[in-house]
Amino acid sequence: MTACIRRIGPEDAAAFRALRLAALAAHPEAFGSSLEEEAGIDLAALRARLAAPPPDVLFGAFLGETLVGMAGLAVAARVKQRHKGTVWGVYVDPAQRGAGIAQALITAVIDSAQAAGLGVLQLAVTVGNVPAIRLYEAAGFVRTGIEPRALRVGDRFLDEALMVRLLD
Ligand SMILES: CC(C)(COP(=O)(O)OP(=O)(O)OC[C@H]1O[C@@H](n2cnc3c(N)ncnc32)[C@H](O)[C@@H]1OP(=O)(O)O)[C@@H](O)C(=O)NCCC(=O)NCCS
Repeated sequence: MTACIRRIGPEDAAAFRALRLAALAAHPEAFGSSLEEEAGIDLAALRARLAAPPPDVLFGAFLGETLVGMAGLAVAARVKQRHKGTVWGVYVDPAQRGAGIAQALITAVIDSAQAAGLGVLQLAVTVGNVPAIRLYEAAGFVRTGIEPRALRVGDRFLDEALMVRLLD
């Protein structure tokens, strides 16, 4: 079955919460948020967050009714930074990996950012996260630098690679 890519809206809050908490539990090194922080957010607050107006958007990959992947776009609010979008929350259920779902989600984010007239997309990915780095490189992102000790997970510091993709 081919995944359907569409916006995750307030009505999807419960499915989003389950997939997001699974992502944070399984890959604490891959995300800036922690399971402890997000497990405490209730559904009403998530519904409000998922109702954020465009150009912010969170795309989901659905197999039938089941949410199996996601990728978000957050656009800077300040006047001189409104051309910049940040890609966040990229995750695919382990059982569905290797089938092009993340690539479809990133394509949706890029298309949406381009349609909104943004000039650049940026993201941060933990150094050593080879699947994610290859995914982003294949989508046209290039590495611009390294942020040393960007994350602290338990007693480990992790460096992040900063990547950008210019938009036409
Ligand atoms: C990274 C992740 C989103 C990829 O999802 P996916 O649906 O399996 O990826 P796709 O099938 O769409 O693969 C697209 C491209 O990504 C790269 N890629 C994906 N998985 C890979 C792997 N295990 N090893 C190497 N490259 C990989 C490849 O370039 C691939 O293109 P190709 O199949 O033509 O070679 C998924 O592994 C995941 O959720 N990881 C844990 C969370 C995470 O690290 N998120 C990123 C936070 S910055």
